[in-house]
Amino acid sequence: MHDPRRPAFPFDELRRRPDVEAPNLLAFDATDRLLGARGVDQAEARGLAGRDIAVIGDAYGAVTLQLASAGLTGVRVHQDLVTGRAALAGNAAALGLTGTYVGHELDSGLLSGARLVLAQLPRGLAELEELADAVARWAADDVVLVAGGRVKHMTLAMNGVLGARFTEVGAELAVQKSRLLTAAGPRPVPEHPPFPVCAAHDDVGLTLCAFGGAFAGPRLDVGTRFLLDFLDRMPGGPGSTVVDLGCGTGALAAAYTLRHPGARVVATDRSAAAVRSARATMEANGVAGRVAVEHDDAGGSLPEASADVVLLNPPFHLGASVHAGAGIKLIDAAGRLLAPGGELWCVANSHLGYRAALQAAVGRTEVAGRNRKFTVTRSVRRHARGAAPTDTRAQGPSRAPAPGVPSEGP
Ligand SMILES: C[S@@+](CC[C@H](N)C(=O)[O-])C[C@H]1O[C@@H](n2cnc3c(N)ncnc32)[C@H](O)[C@@H]1O
Repeated sequence: MHDPRRPAFPFDELRRRPDVEAPNLLAFDATDRLLGARGVDQAEARGLAGRDIAVIGDAYGAVTLQLASAGLTGVRVHQDLVTGRAALAGNAAALGLTGTYVGHELDSGLLSGARLVLAQLPRGLAELEELADAVARWAADDVVLVAGGRVKHMTLAMNGVLGARFTEVGAELAVQKSRLLTAAGPRPVPEHPPFPVCAAHDDVGLTLCAFGGAFAGPRLDVGTRFLLDFLDRMPGGPGSTVVDLGCGTGALAAAYTLRHPGARVVATDRSAAAVRSARATMEANGVAGRVAVEHDDAGGSLPEASADVVLLNPPFHLGASVHAGAGIKLIDAAGRLLAPGGELWCVANSHLGYRAALQAAVGRTEVAGRNRKFTVTRSVRRHARGAAPTDTRAQGPSRAPAPGVPSEGP
C-alpha cells in the first residue's frame, strides 16, 4: 500500500461537503486508498503522465487528489454527483491542488486515449455495463481498467459484466475489506452505446429512459407510481411553476407536464446520469421543450419562494449507507423553493416518518393517501410570520420564472 518514500496523503483532511456530513460518514474509504496507490505505481511502472489517466466515480476526490499530490496533473475525472464535484474542488483548494485535474462527463473526452482508468465500482450492474462499454469504446488499446469496491458490495456478476467488454479480467486479494478488479484487452464494441434504455409504461401513459446510474432504471418506482395517482389533486394552472426535486429519470416531471400542460416545469437532480436520463425521458414523451432539466444540488440554483408545487420522492440511501439526511435535505430545500401557499407533494415509505420534518420545513402537512407501503403527504408552505396570507393560485403567477424554464405554455 503506502510507499514510505512518498509523503503520506492527508486523508483525514478530506471533507464531504456540500454533501451530508456526519461522524459516521467519511470522505474516503480503503478502496480510494488502493486506487490512488495503484495509480501512482502504474504511472511510475508504465511511464504514464497524468493526462493518460482517467478516474471515474471518485466520491469526494480522494483518488484524484492522491494522484495530484504525487505530481500527476491533468488527470481526467468523471463524477456523477454535482455534490461530489464540489467536494473535490473544495478538497483540492484546501490542499493547494486547484487546477491539477480536468472534469468531464462520461464521454469520449474523458476516455479518449486513456491508458489507465481507475474506477470506484458502481453498485448497480447497469452502471458498470455503461462504464465498461465507455472504457472499451474510447480508451487506448492498451488500457488497463482498475475497478475497486468494498467486498460486501461486490458480486461475481461484476466480473461477467467486465468480461463482456474485455478479454482479460482478474480479481485481486482483498485488502482492508476492499478488492480491486482489473480488466484489459478491450473487445470490439457494438455500433451504439447500450444506454439510454427506454421502456413504455402504458398503464400510466409514460415512457421512461435511463442511463446506467439512474434510480430504478427505466422501471417506474412503486412509490412514484402511487404519487402519480394524485396528479389531478395538485394545483397546476397555466403559468404555475413546478419543481420535480430529485427527478431521477423524470417520471414525475413528465407525467405532471402531460396532465397540466400550461405549467412551467423544472426537473432537477444532483446526478448527471439522472439528468441525462430525464432529458431522454422528456424527449420520449414529447415534452422536451416544456421541461427544463438542471444538474443541481437540492435545487440550489433555483430562486427561493419561486415554486407553486414541488414533487418529491426523497432518497433514503446515501451511497451504500442508509441515512435520513439526504431526504431531510430535499425536504428543507422544498421549504426554500415553495412560495407561500405553495404545495409539497411527497411520497415516502410509511415507516420513514417524515411528517415532523415536513411540518418544520414547509408547514401544515396532511396525509393525502396511504397504501400498504407508502404515504403521500401534501404540505402547504406557511406564510412568513407577520405577512398577510395570500392565495397565490387565485392571483396567478406573479414571480419571475426559474432560470431555464420555458416562459410560455404550449
Ligand atoms: C428515490 S429517487 C426518486 C427519483 C424520481 N423522482 C422518481 O420518483 O422516480 C431520489 C432522487 O433524488 C436524487 N437526489 C438525492 N439527493 C439529492 C440532492 N441533494 N439534490 C438533488 N437530487 C438529489 C437522487 O439522485 C435520485 O435520483
